[in-house]
Amino acid sequence: MQRADADDAICACTRRALLGGLAAAACLAPIAGLAQAANPAARVRPQPGDRLALVSGERAGQPIAAREVLLGAAPLAAWPLDPADGLLRNGSRLNQLRILRLDPATLSPRTTANAAEGVVAYSAMCSHAGCDVTGWDAAALQLICPCHGSTFSALDAGAIAKGPASKPLAMLPLRIQEGELRVASAFTRRVGFTPA
Ligand code: FES
Repeated sequence: MQRADADDAICACTRRALLGGLAAAACLAPIAGLAQAANPAARVRPQPGDRLALVSGERAGQPIAAREVLLGAAPLAAWPLDPADGLLRNGSRLNQLRILRLDPATLSPRTTANAAEGVVAYSAMCSHAGCDVTGWDAAALQLICPCHGSTFSALDAGAIAKGPASKPLAMLPLRIQEGELRVASAFTRRVGFTPA
């Protein structure tokens, strides 16, 4: 069995959409990503010291200050940003992140270890079949994949709250430097999924 490590990795549901006309916005979204930067450096995984930048909105591509991530707000979509040359690492779906702030007192120890003042970062690629994790349950503080309903705990290092996913979401450890969010170290686990 070969793991889908490529972001080129059209997720399984997207592939079905292309073949069968499935109109699932959450699955079709990655198609746009296929046209992203051809620069190989933009496909490199997040590196320690990278900034984090917004994916969309008026400030798309701009670094995220820690104070912009508000307690109680839905997760922000973000890319890593190379601080040396300003390169946005948006050439790979495996690099897209969900950033949110949680009450530090509520975090599990393994989440606290990778958080910065309550701000946490998770991979946006579902570990089940690679769809974008776009949903958010603000009451349960869980990230939701719209394709098949897998749910992941934001308080507990992306642990599975509900399948069919069988692996947690990867966390990206963070730190804060001069008020900006920075990557502290590599993803806590391999990002992506293993196709059936
Ligand atoms: Fe199946 Fe996410 S791709 S639940």
